[in-house]
Amino acid sequence: MRAVLVTPDCPARLALGEVAEPDPRRDEAVVAVRAISLNRGEVRFAQTKEPGARTGWDIAGVVERAAADGRGPAVGERVVAFLPNADGWAERVAVETSLLARIPDGVSDEVAAALPVAGLTALRGLDKGVRLVGRRVAITGATGGVGGFAVQIARAMGAEVVAQVRRASQVDGVKALGADHVVVGESSACFADLAPYGLALDGLGGEMIAGLVAMLDRHGVAVTYGGTASFTTSFGVYSLTRTASLYGFMLHAELAEEPGGVSLGRMLNLVERGLVRVDIGRRGSWREIGEAAQALTDRAFTGKAVLSVE
Ligand SMILES: NC(=O)c1ccc[n+]([C@@H]2O[C@H](COP(=O)([O-])OP(=O)(O)OC[C@H]3O[C@@H](n4cnc5c(N)ncnc54)[C@H](OP(=O)(O)O)[C@@H]3O)[C@@H](O)[C@H]2O)c1
Repeated sequence: MRAVLVTPDCPARLALGEVAEPDPRRDEAVVAVRAISLNRGEVRFAQTKEPGARTGWDIAGVVERAAADGRGPAVGERVVAFLPNADGWAERVAVETSLLARIPDGVSDEVAAALPVAGLTALRGLDKGVRLVGRRVAITGATGGVGGFAVQIARAMGAEVVAQVRRASQVDGVKALGADHVVVGESSACFADLAPYGLALDGLGGEMIAGLVAMLDRHGVAVTYGGTASFTTSFGVYSLTRTASLYGFMLHAELAEEPGGVSLGRMLNLVERGLVRVDIGRRGSWREIGEAAQALTDRAFTGKAVLSVE
């Protein structure tokens, strides 16, 4: 069967190749993959992986063989999953049933496929806050995959959402997602006028996260999940108030607290109820995986990239 493999000399070092059929454990179902979505992380990691390595975190498809232990969805059910081992971009894949969520009838495969990494990082990152209803939440990179979902989820939770973008031309799009305030700039100073915050969710790193930790209110938490601007930073040791905290977020580690399938079920619930919409900026066939990955790296489109497996 075909799978996406790290292939030097191809666009973004990614292309289709041949691999063995999955050999499921008793707690794994075999899913025929119909749609995949791309994230910046796996595209970046593909640049340093060995030739022939598998990749891919986000998949949606249909159960072809149910798990032998009798748990999880039945044959024919549509499902979505985050695959922490990054081996999901294949025609068929064995998936632990705790990672699977059933896709409701009103949600398409491609919309579901866009949810796992970006949606779960937003959802589980916001879970790190307490008593966010009616409190201000700061969200950086609001035009991005994680940021765009976070704005919508925080709004649905009843927080007052302060979202950051880099350019004035991006303000209307983020307001349409439900942000109460959109601040423009690349430094944390753009958040200062509306401080303090009950939670700050940041994927930019660098000076942004350093500034935000100093803008938390009592019991506030700054959640750092990425370093799009810079992976290093420095901040004053007394910049956190006595009761505020800094949380280092890694989605893979969060699965131990709540299984991926349960979290994805929560995301699907928000989508089904119209509280979260999915912006797909690039569609196509997975045969063009390299071109799509390169376009993502080049920031040639906004929204998620979702490819069909055919
Ligand atoms: N820890 C985890 O478990 C976890 C999970 C998911 C993602 N991540 C990481 O989090 C980061 C964001 O992921 P994503 O999927 O949301 O990425 P994304 O879709 O590319 O979004 C990036 C956001 O950052 C902005 N941005 C890009 N370059 C910037 C710069 N130099 N300075 C300031 N802002 C900049 C973008 O704005 P424009 O639209 O203006 O370009 C966009 O809003 C990535 O590094 C990813 O690897 C980590």
